[in-house]
Amino acid sequence: MGADDDTIPGHGFSTRAIRAASRVPAVDQTPTAVPIYQSATFSTEDADELTEVTAGRVPGFVYSRLGNPTTAALADAYAELAGGEAGATFATGMAAVHATLASLTGAGDRIVVTSALYGSTRTLLDGLFTRFGVRTTFVDIRDHDAVAAALSAEPAALLYAETISNPTIVIADHAALADLAHRHGARYVVDNTFASPYVCRPLELGADVVVESATKFIGGHSDVMGGVVAGDRATLAAIHKTHVDTGGTLAPLAAFLILRGLQTLAIRMDRHSATALALATWLESRPEVAAVAYPSLASHPQRMLAQRQLGSGGGMLAFDLAGGRHAGPRFIDALRVPERTASLGSVHTVVVHPPTTSHRQLDEAGLAAAGIGPGLLRCSVGLEDADDLIDDFGRALDAIRPTPATPALTAPAASIG
Ligand SMILES: Cc1ncc(COP(=O)(O)O)c(C=O)c1O
Repeated sequence: MGADDDTIPGHGFSTRAIRAASRVPAVDQTPTAVPIYQSATFSTEDADELTEVTAGRVPGFVYSRLGNPTTAALADAYAELAGGEAGATFATGMAAVHATLASLTGAGDRIVVTSALYGSTRTLLDGLFTRFGVRTTFVDIRDHDAVAAALSAEPAALLYAETISNPTIVIADHAALADLAHRHGARYVVDNTFASPYVCRPLELGADVVVESATKFIGGHSDVMGGVVAGDRATLAAIHKTHVDTGGTLAPLAAFLILRGLQTLAIRMDRHSATALALATWLESRPEVAAVAYPSLASHPQRMLAQRQLGSGGGMLAFDLAGGRHAGPRFIDALRVPERTASLGSVHTVVVHPPTTSHRQLDEAGLAAAGIGPGLLRCSVGLEDADDLIDDFGRALDAIRPTPATPALTAPAASIG
């Protein structure tokens, strides 16, 4: 709305207030930060332009579910950093995963999926997608013969994997898996949340679509939720259409915060990785710890792949306490530095017990099939001082030794990240 065309003498207070308070200042200079276009709607010159922009025949913005300048800036920035032709943004990582899978499959299709999979993605596939006629076949993606067998058993629309799996730190060999998928006429879709585009760029290794929860390392501060997707232009147009139809729209303020996170992603990931390696190495030396999984540890069975494919080990590690299921929550309660909360990829270190949080929907057999031991702890290593974390973890390990019998745990009601 222009500043000089909206004052009509004789209008009442409300009309004048709405016009006065909607006047957008003209700014000749380019702002250094992407502005937060906190507007659901954008005005057009005339009805024709409204029709053309709404139909996507003319570039522009009309309604923020269809497009918004701040979220578009994030989509473009993510696509560029991920190595895609185009990008899309969503209200959460799960909205991004849902829209991606819903855009690329239909009733009767089959998805071959890594069995080392984030709990909510598994729930989405087992529940909603099954209900709408999309079947899934779970497979150990480290076993490429098994993947080939699963892909060739009957037609598959997609092969789906996580770069570094939540929570078991299994690494997907993107070049090999993309090749296998393509040879069997399937597309290869990757959840890159644990790595971030700084640590791994699956599209450069042959993946067709990459999806991430921007709530995690990209946002980086536990203060925003979002999801991002990148890939080729035609696929992203289909995903955008699903987004417009289903409406998991990212808010402009959230896009602004995620853009701010992207700017410091590299230095944060370097620090997350250095501290995680120090902590993982130290944990391996402790007798209370039965096993540690971290991509750049010499003991990780896929270390050579990690070296080839990941820029660094990243901020996520997992470890098994010798004390089993009861030791995990007791260890978490004994910690003083980490937050006792959910999620990952933040400045704060967060330790969770997947069997009672992110993967609580799985029974014992399901947990075992997913490679999750009863005493497994997942640690998102934050940006605190490494020595403080090591001291704190040492104190907590001392505090839980020896392990007395404790009552059986009941899982909480919600599935969380
Ligand atoms: C690997 C992975 N993918 C997707 C998601 C979903 O992200 P969001 O919680 O932003 O919906 C998570 C959340 O923890 C995750 O760990």
